[in-house]
Order: sequence, then structure tokens, then C-alpha cells
Amino acid sequence: MAPIISASHVSKKFKRAKKNPGFTGALKHLVKPVFTEFTAVDDVSFTIEPGESVAYVGPNGAGKSTTVKLLTGILVPSAGEVTVCDIHPFENRQENARNIGVVFGQRTQLWWDIPVVESLRMLGDIYDVPTDQFKATFAELTEVLDLGPLLNVPARQLSLGQRMRCDLAASLIHNPPILYLDEPTIGLDVSVKARFREFVKYMNAERGLTVMLTSHDIGDIQELCPRMIMIDKGKIIYDGAFAEVTRRFGWEQKVLVTLSGDEQLNVAHLASGLPDHASVTQPLPESVEVIFDSRLSTSGEIVRDLAMALPIADIRIEETSAESIIRNLYEGALSFEERIDG
Ligand SMILES: Nc1ncnc2c1ncn2[C@@H]1O[C@H](COP(=O)(O)OP(=O)(O)O)[C@@H](O)[C@H]1O
Ligand SMILES: [Mg+2]
Repeated sequence: MAPIISASHVSKKFKRAKKNPGFTGALKHLVKPVFTEFTAVDDVSFTIEPGESVAYVGPNGAGKSTTVKLLTGILVPSAGEVTVCDIHPFENRQENARNIGVVFGQRTQLWWDIPVVESLRMLGDIYDVPTDQFKATFAELTEVLDLGPLLNVPARQLSLGQRMRCDLAASLIHNPPILYLDEPTIGLDVSVKARFREFVKYMNAERGLTVMLTSHDIGDIQELCPRMIMIDKGKIIYDGAFAEVTRRFGWEQKVLVTLSGDEQLNVAHLASGLPDHASVTQPLPESVEVIFDSRLSTSGEIVRDLAMALPIADIRIEETSAESIIRNLYEGALSFEERIDG
């Protein structure tokens, strides 16, 4: 099968104003502006097959939203080629819009002051959805997303979770084969998140919808995306199975210590009494966290070393969650290059 989304050596550069501080600097900038170039997406290549569900993850500012904007045709690449359903999104924005649904977590595509049902109708008109098809899609989305009670409410009166459900319907009312979700679950409570995941899973599995998801919520990724592409500073640092990441880095363990006092510790000094592969932080005045490689030390050994150095009130030992593995990858505490054959 041919890929439905393809990015080949894609870069996106932004111009940034370079201003000197102060009034004179601002004035000089007005007279003769100086710009520097900033590469937000740097030689990125990947392909996505129809029906895949792919997570696109990375720290803030990594270039995730910029990539999504290149795929939706909002932005034009500075170099390289993007194709979505065999067309170039930027040069064919309208045609591309028919093939994609987009949800940006903190924005809505619903008209603020009119009932949801009218927004959905207007979107149906904008996309020229044939009446029969509109009716069928509308009925299905209303049922699966349980929109019945919300349809006559203006978007401004909806809670964040209700609005997310309506936004999902709005993004899919024209039956696109692709759905981009950019940080869709920010601010949603646990039950709304669960519902959101269930819906996306259903559309992917039962309707063959191709999904590309950026999210900080590792739970979203774990549940929805077998494949993960990780981007950092505009470059792809990993593209493969999500499970492989936890398998490869799952040796990490954490000891959480609650101190019996809340003195400021000398963390560097404390670390010097522990094995080299252990890292120490004091996230709160009364607690210390030690992350270590369970292939090299047992938790018993780490606890013993800590007990000699600290007044301990309580201790907990945790296996590493996927969440902290990924956070460590972001923060550079783990690197794929180092462990490539781990
Ligand atoms: N329109 C723009 N003009 C200048 N810089 C931008 C623009 N859009 C994004 N950037 C910069 O590009 C980088 C990547 O941004 P973005 O793709 O939004 O990151 P992410 O979604 O991964 O948090 C950031 O440093 C951001 O400040
Ligand atoms: Mg973003």
C-alpha cells in the first residue's frame, strides 16, 4: 500500500526578529530590521500508512505543531516534500482540507455563538458533503459521541470536555480518511479523556481512520498509538514501536524517599555516596528521588546507601513508567544513540 502521509527531507525555517535591547534597539529595528533564521523542523522524513495510528511526541518547542501545520497546508515547507493523499497540502489547501480532520486542543472550530448542530451543518456545507452522507455521518457521530443533549447549545456554553466531543464531530463531519490531533486532551478530566480515547480507538479500528496524535499525555499514546515518532529540536530521534521504548529503557528504577526533616540537602554530595549510574534530585524540600539502573544495582543497595546518608521517614520503590522514560529521553538523561542495541 502506498503511504497516505509522506514527509521527505522536510524543513521549516522561521525568520525571527533580532532586536537589540532598549529604545535605541527598537528604533534601529524599525529603521533596518535584522532577522535571524530559526529551523523549527529540520530534515524530517517519515511515512504513514492508511489506517495507522501514530504518536508524534517531543518536548515543548520540538516542532510538533509546525509539522502538523505543514501536513494541513497551513504552512509551506522551506525545503523537502510533503504529500498527503498524493497531493501537496500547501498548494492544494482546499482539496487537502477534504482529506483531513484537525483538532487543536486549545482552539475550537465551532462557531462560538450558534448551536453546535448549526456549526456542524455549516461545516457540511463548506465541505459540500452530500445530504445523505451528511445525515448518516451526523447520526453516527451524534450517537458515538453522545452529542444529543449538546446539539442545541451554543459552543460558548459547553464545558471543555463537551466542547472536545463536539470538536471531534466537527473535524470528522466530512468523513476524512485522516485525523490530526494536536494536544487534544490538555485540561480534560480523567473520564472525558477515557471517552476521547475510546472514540479515537473506535474510529481507527472500525472505520480505518488514519490518526496522527501529538500529546504530552503518555496514557493517550500508550492506549492509542502502537507507533511513536519522537522529535527533538526539529529532528526525528526515534521512529518505531512504542512498546520497544519501554522495553529498551525499562531497566530504570526509582527510589522515593520522604525525609524526616526538610533541610536543604547538598544533592551533589549525596550523589557522590551513590553509584555513578544513579541520579539524585530533591523535587521538594522533604523528599529525595534517586533514579538508577536496576541492572547495575539492586534497590536494596541504593536504599542502604541512602539510609546511611539521610534521616528517612518513608521509602517507596517504583518501576519506571513509560511517562518517566519519555521525560528522561526529552531531557537528554537517556539517549537512543547510547543504547541503540540495548
Ligand atoms: N510562526 C512562527 N514564527 C516563528 N517561530 C515559530 C513559529 N511557529 C513556531 N515557531 C517556533 O518553532 C519552534 C517549534 O514550535 P512548535 O512546532 O509549535 O513546537 P511544539 O508544538 O513541538 O511545542 C518553537 O521554538 C516555536 O517558537
Ligand atoms: Mg505544539
